[in-house]
Amino acid sequence: MEEPSALVFFVNGKKVSIDNPDPRITLIQYLRRTLYLTGTKEACSQGACGACTVMVSYYNHHQRKIVHYSCNACLTLLCTLHGTAITTVEGVGSTRNGLHTVQSNLLKYYGLQCGFCTPGMVMAMYTMFRNNTRPEADDFERALEGNLCRCTGYRPILEAFKSSCPKGKSCCMNMDNDEGEMNMADQDVDNVNKHESQEVIFPNELQTNPSYRQTSVKFAGGGYTWYRPTSLSDLFRVKANNPEAVVVMGAQSILGSNIRNNKTPKDLVSCTGVLELKVMKQDENEIVFGSAVTFSEMEQFLSSLTLKDAGGTLVDALLEGIRWIAADQVRNVATIGGHLMSTGPHDLQTLMMTCGAILTFQSAGEKTPHTIKYSEGFDPNSFSPSSILISVRLPRNQKNEFIFFGKQPFRRGMDYAVVNAGLFIKIEEQSSGIKDMRFCVGNIESKPRYLENVTKKAIGSPCTEQLLEDIGDVIVQELKNSRAKQLKYKITLACAFFFKFYKRLFKLLQLSEEDTFGLTPVHSSGAQFYDVPTDDNSHIVWQPVPHVSSKSITTGEAVYVDDIPEYKKELSLALVSSSRAHAKILSVDFSAALEAPGVEDFVDYRDVPGEMLYGESGPETPLLADNEVTHFGQPIAGILAKTREEARAAAKLVKVEYENLPAVFTIDDAIEKNSLFEFSNSTEQGNIEQGMTESEVTLEGVIETGAQEHLYMEPCSALICPKKEDKEMDIFVGSQDPSGLQKWIGQFLLIPCNRINVKVKRIGGAFGGKAVDIIPLTGIASVAAWKVNRPVRCVFQRDYDVRATGKRHGTKAFYKVGFNKDGKLNALSLQFYLNAGAFSGLSPLVLNQMMPGMASIYKIPHYSSTGHLCKTNIPSSTAMRGFGMPQAHFIIQSIMFDVSKHLGMSLNRLREMNTFREGDTDMYGKVLSDFNLIRCWEDCKKQSNFNTVEKEVTDFNRDNKWRKRGVAMSPCIFFFGYPPLSANYAGALVNVYKDGSVLISHGGIEMGQGLHTKMCQIAATVLGIPLHQVHLCETSTHSVPHSTESGGSFVADINGGAVKNACEVIKERLSVLKETMPNASWTELINAAIFSRINLSATGFYKSRDKGYNFKKQEEGGDYCLYHGYGAACTVTEIDVLTGENQILKTDIVFDVGKSLNPAIDVGQIEGGFVQGCGMMTSEQVTVNPEAGLIEACGPINYKIPGIRNIPKDFKVTLLKEAAGGHKEVYSSKGIGEPPLLLAVSLHLALREAVIAARKANGLSGNYRLECPATPERIRMACAGPIVEKCRDVKEERKVIQV
Ligand SMILES: Cc1cc2nc3c(=O)[nH]c(=O)nc-3n(C[C@H](O)[C@H](O)[C@H](O)COP(=O)(O)OP(=O)(O)OC[C@H]3O[C@@H](n4cnc5c(N)ncnc54)[C@H](O)[C@@H]3O)c2cc1C
Ligand code: FES
Ligand code: FES
Repeated sequence: MEEPSALVFFVNGKKVSIDNPDPRITLIQYLRRTLYLTGTKEACSQGACGACTVMVSYYNHHQRKIVHYSCNACLTLLCTLHGTAITTVEGVGSTRNGLHTVQSNLLKYYGLQCGFCTPGMVMAMYTMFRNNTRPEADDFERALEGNLCRCTGYRPILEAFKSSCPKGKSCCMNMDNDEGEMNMADQDVDNVNKHESQEVIFPNELQTNPSYRQTSVKFAGGGYTWYRPTSLSDLFRVKANNPEAVVVMGAQSILGSNIRNNKTPKDLVSCTGVLELKVMKQDENEIVFGSAVTFSEMEQFLSSLTLKDAGGTLVDALLEGIRWIAADQVRNVATIGGHLMSTGPHDLQTLMMTCGAILTFQSAGEKTPHTIKYSEGFDPNSFSPSSILISVRLPRNQKNEFIFFGKQPFRRGMDYAVVNAGLFIKIEEQSSGIKDMRFCVGNIESKPRYLENVTKKAIGSPCTEQLLEDIGDVIVQELKNSRAKQLKYKITLACAFFFKFYKRLFKLLQLSEEDTFGLTPVHSSGAQFYDVPTDDNSHIVWQPVPHVSSKSITTGEAVYVDDIPEYKKELSLALVSSSRAHAKILSVDFSAALEAPGVEDFVDYRDVPGEMLYGESGPETPLLADNEVTHFGQPIAGILAKTREEARAAAKLVKVEYENLPAVFTIDDAIEKNSLFEFSNSTEQGNIEQGMTESEVTLEGVIETGAQEHLYMEPCSALICPKKEDKEMDIFVGSQDPSGLQKWIGQFLLIPCNRINVKVKRIGGAFGGKAVDIIPLTGIASVAAWKVNRPVRCVFQRDYDVRATGKRHGTKAFYKVGFNKDGKLNALSLQFYLNAGAFSGLSPLVLNQMMPGMASIYKIPHYSSTGHLCKTNIPSSTAMRGFGMPQAHFIIQSIMFDVSKHLGMSLNRLREMNTFREGDTDMYGKVLSDFNLIRCWEDCKKQSNFNTVEKEVTDFNRDNKWRKRGVAMSPCIFFFGYPPLSANYAGALVNVYKDGSVLISHGGIEMGQGLHTKMCQIAATVLGIPLHQVHLCETSTHSVPHSTESGGSFVADINGGAVKNACEVIKERLSVLKETMPNASWTELINAAIFSRINLSATGFYKSRDKGYNFKKQEEGGDYCLYHGYGAACTVTEIDVLTGENQILKTDIVFDVGKSLNPAIDVGQIEGGFVQGCGMMTSEQVTVNPEAGLIEACGPINYKIPGIRNIPKDFKVTLLKEAAGGHKEVYSSKGIGEPPLLLAVSLHLALREAVIAARKANGLSGNYRLECPATPERIRMACAGPIVEKCRDVKEERKVIQV
């Protein structure tokens, strides 16, 4: 090991040899930036989303077999891969050589939208199939637990993969297929599958040459050294020569904590190849794991054990502990050694303490190893670097000994524990009294705790219900002085675990049958129902055709901004941003940053040649702060360096001195301090005072919803390429509003728009978050590119993206409602507030949209509503899917819920009697024609079998104490077409080429919603040609100028109108020719047209309606929208009363999409929107740390969007049949995208029902206001009961501050 070796591995069958590898380099860096294999996506760099999943294979020479495992390339150090073969999505299939079944089925089942998660999904599934040819339903969900998708709602992904199952007819997919269900796989898709023989073959060299993995090696590069010993003696030799060398195992902790923070130790010693550390063995007394054993290896070993411990529970407890650590991608590489030797709190640390694990350590020079019992005092940081953890010995249970372990995450699947707990208990054989007990809890403090007084209380006592009661008090006493956020909840969880373990023990001892663990186990399934017109097959619109880019997306060939290869002399930009919520900037010192390696220059406000301020509501937001910052993350400057790592490292060296100013975060704070923007909006109808007086009952209340982060998978990115002449610039960016961006950049740089070409190929998810919030990134990068006259690229790191960009507005409404005892509503008075953040931005428009949003479903004769905007020190809130409508629906539905509970009346009956009817005029003067809401509602009631389900839920709640269910329906109305007329237009350009192929361009952006597919369908339909002859390359301001922003679910309407118009122009020009050659093919016609000098390029333009709406001049009337879309949902949910965990058992949706342009794509929008709404309603909470002034979430690692385990277990979607009222100019279709999100309100209402049922069982009657999001903590605390009561006086270190 004296001389450095070359690092050797294979990628997609090709050998790679690197002479001086820098040990800090990750696999993702190497794949994307050296090999230009950009199919592997970098979405979070936290190991928490799976977008970067690849398959690693190696030959196990001892077992003589090839081993395959999935891992996250963002958390894999390149040097760990010596002697392995890596398969990326490009190696699985390609558009040239054919797609793998896993890829082609994704396409057939419409399992992709923006596509940014897709390669990771493909790789997770591909790896599962390589290891498991007989998967069961749970295997699919498990394999995808580590992969997040923000668009699809997972259902089609799961179905696609299940359909790829080699089990064929016996596959779980083929069971329980409802009759009449549309089988998407029957759709006509080109035969794209590749032959098996094209699979990448495991390299023979790795199989025949054991030295790669069995010989100790050393790599040196970039000033760092990597040692990879293969025996303990070699390891100690390395350690003896390099005492400070730091051990690396799976690197899942050390990469995030040290290497990414520029604290890489000079010498790293990788121990995963040390044979002695890979030991797994067992006998009657103990189970032993070497420290380099991974969780997956442990799991396999434990699952295969036939020799059970006497009580049989240690193995189960270990399996339970491992099962819920992260996901496969992490478990496949993370080791037990790394887990115990890194600062937790980690799950198995608690279990180790519970079972009294013995850790064996040895240092270089130490002749014999020494042992330590894992106990409360164990501190991984107290060991010298020379100490190596060799193995972990787990004493087996003896007769009458039992071990239990449980973990309560915030979200089931791929999440850290809120609390975990373990119980060891020994029973006296004759008396069943308690002989010994150890109850340990983790994640309350930084290390797990052993609750000694619980043991004292328990020993000698009989196993009775009374003991359970008494121990609850002891647990509270033991933990109540802990310093922790959410302490009350955490203590209730500790008590809940004790309770659950104890009940399980009762079951094992056959003292009781009751099992209080977990929610009803069910796997996901779904069905979709829609009509496809068969009468006129020439219409490609109305057909469920797959996304036009789906082949390139599933193969990783689809190009996103950061996939564009590096330009010559390109620089990377990293922002220097405010670390304060509100402060004066006293000084900025760039000197240290400018000295850092790779740094070329910096930019600050002085470099902006033109206007500094921008903003949708007028120029108010500075591109770069000069003397004051008003929110955390506000850009102050930018550092330009050769690589992005250098730029990011140097940006941290810029010293900014501040003087703090008072900061406001919440709506309550802002109201109290009168920190409001001037803008407000009011609507009055009837006489509110009279209405209240005339009402038999009045009721007042407060309703609040929190902010929601977009968490689009592709981080905000831009690449600016100044050209050599005439100040021209190409801008590649993920923007929803290229024309708007072009205008701002022109103003920042004082360059005319005709020199700036903003190009958007596709966006990896946006949901409103890339409309305005992309301006600072692109603007500053453009200023930088202008300054240095070189290409500049900027890609936000995920934590910055989450913390510094705007979110959905947190909202608070105060209401007073007047009604009669029969349920008839008379009057509603509303005052509501939006948390707008530091600048008003889009907030006035969001507020305007909410006004009719709250007033459009129920007929209320006397109505008054006023909305205000709070000015706070958080990033300016912005557009997010629904644009205020989800909050509006949440408010109005919550009011209806309160009224129904007050009256003791069925919520459905109350809503039905107050809903507008066909022909009514709403509060904003719109006559409700083709009012399909009632049809959607009635169909949904029927589809969901509401009355029967409601009864079943009541029965379930009567029979179950620890689990409760709730069922609720929710309607939704959405408006299509923007209130101001000026925003309702679009342009298009259609070119026909000599071979007859057609290229279309329009102003809309493809961000996963299938827009380009629909546009191609329209063009093909008008021109009467097959879909494959139409292509759409990108959206570009040079092709279609001054487009409107893509949002409002109206993009297909206006751009569809424009594309249709352009195609009709061409068709018209061809018509004379067509008459003379009626039987000519399209190609012959085009040939003749060219010969006849017919112009085959046409622009199209479309503008909708003649009368807009001005909220400032409501008396003038007008149309606030073009048409309405409707939907209804019914959701059944189940909660665990003791932990607050919940799952959606069933959701039925009926939605009105008019005559859908593409029903399969629209179903995808409905499912994806609904699931995103479920996140808003339950798990996605945005909180601030007031001391640091920052948003606490920093990415998917701690901001919990729904995962595969959190979708409705039974998910049925129907598109309303014969839905009249669609947009006539665009094939009678209706918009989609945003509205389905609103239906997730049904989940919140159902949760409220479940909570009320739980409270009732605890003796608390009446209504309950469950906050939004209804997190497990809120649900648990709301359910109340004796455990919560015990925690009443517990003092919390700091309240969670939701914005
Ligand atoms: C996305 C993600 C999700 C996660 N989710 C969970 C979760 O749900 N529950 C949970 O409990 N944990 C979770 N973790 C943490 C995970 O369990 C640990 O990161 C992992 O176990 C570390 O193991 P490793 O082999 O990668 O350690 P490494 O990162 O290689 O090492 C960690 C530390 O231990 C030291 N070390 C390692 N082995 C030895 C040894 N033999 N002797 C001395 N020192 C040693 C190293 O020097 C280093 O300081 C998650 C981590 C990630 C990245
Ligand atoms: S990018 Fe690697 S897990 Fe998210
Ligand atoms: S398709 Fe999954 S994140 Fe967009």
